[in-house]
Amino acid sequence: MSAVYALKFTGLPHVPIWLMAMMSGVFSMLITWRLLPTWWRAVLLVLPLAALLSLSINSWWWLFAAILLMAFQWNAIFTRIPLYRSDAMVAQALVDYMRRDQQKSLLDLGCGDGRLLWRMAQALPECTFVGIESAPVLYAISRWRCRNQPNCRIWFGDFWRRSWAESDVVFAFLSPEPMLPVWRKRLREGEKHAVLISLAFTVPGIEAGELLPAHQFDMHLYQADHHAVVGKEISDDEFSR
Ligand SMILES: C[S@@+](CC[C@H](N)C(=O)[O-])C[C@H]1O[C@@H](n2cnc3c(N)ncnc32)[C@H](O)[C@@H]1O
Repeated sequence: MSAVYALKFTGLPHVPIWLMAMMSGVFSMLITWRLLPTWWRAVLLVLPLAALLSLSINSWWWLFAAILLMAFQWNAIFTRIPLYRSDAMVAQALVDYMRRDQQKSLLDLGCGDGRLLWRMAQALPECTFVGIESAPVLYAISRWRCRNQPNCRIWFGDFWRRSWAESDVVFAFLSPEPMLPVWRKRLREGEKHAVLISLAFTVPGIEAGELLPAHQFDMHLYQADHHAVVGKEISDDEFSR
């Protein structure tokens, strides 16, 4: 923005501030074109204009927006796992898998607003579903959504602090970071045939037993009794620690 502002002193005609903001956006986008991931281009393009527009908004709205955001996702500051929701295709693929392999129970690690569990609990009334969620507002929404679903329970809290042993299938849609500890906990606590299904994110160094296609992303299915360690990144000894 300051580079564009400097143009004012080069003898160019008066440039309105909104035009400067737009030009700054274009500049920042071009400068970082090859340096940053693609989605940053759109962000950088609109950021200076958004910052300019924000000056005219009453500051109480910012406070309100911050409180609203914290109410939904304060835990993301610590867990670095924000809310993204799985769509109906994911629910359907999980239901098909549970029917095929005759699985009876599923735990959703970080169940968000509970919609995924609610869909599955409706489709498979003979199975049981559990969700754990640490964001208070999302937990409340999940509880409310699943209130008439007797085969679905929602717990409040940190999924690392609870046992996952009771569920045949553990489902995760988290981020790349916690995947190896998630798989380790699953192996420590699960039965011989314990299953972990991760949407979008793989367990580093471990070969998935199967890929379950689910529209946008694949789901990676890991099974305790035949996990294969890929390459030398993680040895079996190291793995079982
Ligand atoms: C990407 S969302 C997935 C939501 C849902 N499972 C789905 O597939 O639609 C991840 C969720 O995990 C929750 N979460 C992250 N870390 C958690 C933790 N340690 N304990 C409980 N919930 C957690 C977040 O608040 C967020 O709602």
